[in-house]
Amino acid sequence: MSVQQPVKEQWGTRIGLVLAMAGNAVGLGNFLRFPVQAAQNGGGTFMIPYFISFILLGIPMMWIEWGVGRYGGRFGHGSVPGMFDVLTDRKKHWAKYFGILGVVMPLVVFIYYTYITSWMLGFSFFSLTGKYFGLGDDVQARAEGVRNFLATYQDVGDTSGVGGWMPILFFALTMVFLGWVLSRGIRGGIEKLALYGVPLLFFFAIVLLVRILTLPPAAASPAEGLNFIWNPDWASLGNARVWVAAAGQIFFTLSVGMGSIQTYASYLRRKDDITLTGLSTAATNEFAEVVLGGTIAIPAAVVFFGVSGAMAIAQGGSFDLGIVAMGTVLGELGGSQIWGFIWFFLLFIAGITSCVALASPTISFLQEEVGMTRRGAAKMVTLLGIGIGLFHIFFLQHGVLDEWDYWAGTFGLVVFAAIEIFLFSWIFGINRGWDELHEGADLRIPAFYKPVMKWVTPAFLAILLVWWGWTEAVPKLMMDGVAAEDVPYLWVARAMMVAMALTGIWLIKRSWARKQLDG
Ligand code: PHE
Repeated sequence: MSVQQPVKEQWGTRIGLVLAMAGNAVGLGNFLRFPVQAAQNGGGTFMIPYFISFILLGIPMMWIEWGVGRYGGRFGHGSVPGMFDVLTDRKKHWAKYFGILGVVMPLVVFIYYTYITSWMLGFSFFSLTGKYFGLGDDVQARAEGVRNFLATYQDVGDTSGVGGWMPILFFALTMVFLGWVLSRGIRGGIEKLALYGVPLLFFFAIVLLVRILTLPPAAASPAEGLNFIWNPDWASLGNARVWVAAAGQIFFTLSVGMGSIQTYASYLRRKDDITLTGLSTAATNEFAEVVLGGTIAIPAAVVFFGVSGAMAIAQGGSFDLGIVAMGTVLGELGGSQIWGFIWFFLLFIAGITSCVALASPTISFLQEEVGMTRRGAAKMVTLLGIGIGLFHIFFLQHGVLDEWDYWAGTFGLVVFAAIEIFLFSWIFGINRGWDELHEGADLRIPAFYKPVMKWVTPAFLAILLVWWGWTEAVPKLMMDGVAAEDVPYLWVARAMMVAMALTGIWLIKRSWARKQLDG
């Protein structure tokens, strides 16, 4: 059995790699999802399960995924099926099939994440033209105005407002840009995007944060806003839902349990450090999430809508807070067009640098297992994104996007992480794994992480899976509480995910048979 090692692309510089990894992790999750999760799940108390999850799930999974990716890359693998195959010394033939999760999940998330990212581009544009500002006589009415504006934007079937071709136009622009970046490759595309984009995103966020924290008090003061998001509600600690929400947020925001970190790490060289760099990525993401993400949207909403008003908004979800409330608040400031632009364009950059990360596993998979060129694969992913995306774009109101988000972007991450850590710590073996992580390492991982990776993280994941599966995933699977007219749409959405997975499995089978690795 001889294994040809195709020449893989590599990162150009360490700073480029760090920024690309940061761009991968820092996304809409940090600025839109996090504040809503925190506000809905006990405010300051949320930070306790959140940090425990960060230490016991997030950081170990981050290291493991860098390790799995770099190790797979050594054998020429850039996507998880091949990585799982070598991780099990090609002895567990089933492992590679589970690896398809690490391709299909990011692809599904890519399909809707790009659309949401394109809204941010649209709202950047509407900020500059002042289109959604001043649509009412007082703050409440103006908020209603932004809400209606967003609703017509999201309803592509309604061509009377800004809906119809506008959202399609911004989606098309976003996809063309993405296709262009992706086809330029790791160094010339993704790394360049991160080199310019990530510093700009941090700069915008810090400027905005200072602006929000120095706002004169209106319905409340910025300090009351901070107090609201950080104020502990101890009773919520006993609530399992809060723990599940915290763990889910850690997974999503760090991009772990997906397959995308592994693909980025596969472009490392054998002796490149992963312990310090992986930890820095996680720390950078947490700064962007807790300090920046936690201090912008909620305090801003509190200043203008008061604590109870902001709470009601946060209950409505990420877009109520990030688009409706923030759009309204920024419209109240002098120079609102610039402030609006800064906010939505920072979200656009955060989104786009995550989109390229979500597309990468599929691109690598198509290159490796189907033999496409990078350009061909980039084109293919872009077209898949557009083609399949039209389904949720047109049936948004039936909950198709949420369905995909739940299975591929929330619950699936934990399933995938559980399989991955089992393969790493138990099949590959924690001792070998530990040595592998420390190849070329600039930092020795504290020794207690060894038993954590072998016992604690897997146990934590197992508990989460059982609890979460039982209380939420099973009822969800049974379509509990879903309106009858939405049921068929959700079944089609599920069938599409299954079809993608089956196609992937078939491609793996064919590829391995060709390389004659399975005999
Ligand atoms: N971490 C990104 C965010 O916070 C989302 C993401 C998940 C990106 C998985 C890539 C892979 O928005």
